[in-house]
Amino acid sequence: MTRLLMCRPDHYGIYYEINPWMDRRRQADRAVAIRQWEALYRLLTETLGVRVELLPSVPGLPDLCFTANAGLLVKSLFVSSRFRYREREAEVPYFTQWFAERNYRVTCLPEPVFFEGEGDALFCGNDLFAGYRFRSELQAHHLLAELLGLQVYSLELTDPWFYHVDTCFCPLQPGRAAYYPKAFSPASQRVLKEAIPELFPVTEAEAKRLACNALVIGRSVILNADCPHLVRTLAEAGYQVYEVETTEFLKAGGGPKCLALFLDRDESW
Ligand code: ARG
Repeated sequence: MTRLLMCRPDHYGIYYEINPWMDRRRQADRAVAIRQWEALYRLLTETLGVRVELLPSVPGLPDLCFTANAGLLVKSLFVSSRFRYREREAEVPYFTQWFAERNYRVTCLPEPVFFEGEGDALFCGNDLFAGYRFRSELQAHHLLAELLGLQVYSLELTDPWFYHVDTCFCPLQPGRAAYYPKAFSPASQRVLKEAIPELFPVTEAEAKRLACNALVIGRSVILNADCPHLVRTLAEAGYQVYEVETTEFLKAGGGPKCLALFLDRDESW
């Protein structure tokens, strides 16, 4: 059974600007954000049978709802994030406490290396695909590979609008992923092509709707609304696609995937 960690956006809003999506003059409507989050939560729990654990929200930490950035959980080891921006640093103790209280082993990469968790590190099969430059650092990937004994493919991000790898890369199953090529350096585009036999490129317009920030649960894919090309590609490839509205989270640079962290994955399909 798939199990995810989420956090209700009770204190969500655009109160600082740490990526190009964020503009304090384009404030998020919190009531709408909560409705959009609840629709996602219900889709996961009621329609898809996912178990969702909830981290309590905290006043003054508007981005805490983006639990994908808590860290990276591999088996029972939680590698906690070290955020690039001071604005998000204060989230760390809430995330680590949640894992420590549930008997996970908690660690972090040595200082001062930045690493922003599942936002910048996604599994495709048994391999980890990790982004660097805007948030996480290349050195974090070497340390992760050593710590976890895993193959880590490092991908250089080139466009500040796609500052986390989960904004431009979406693993669908072993050997298959969707991606927005232009968000990666030419060398990293080659790395992806060599490592993943089936890559579905996403159009620029849909990439800018954060089409790649999709939540994949087995054969079901939860996607931002208004990405018809990717919907068609995925449906033709045999996925069940669910479209959700995340307009308020896009204002912070987030979509469905950012709002969840994988605790357990169901790999039985
Ligand atoms: N405002 C947040 C930030 O800039 C959004 C994080 C989105 N998370 C993600 N996994 N892409 O840090």
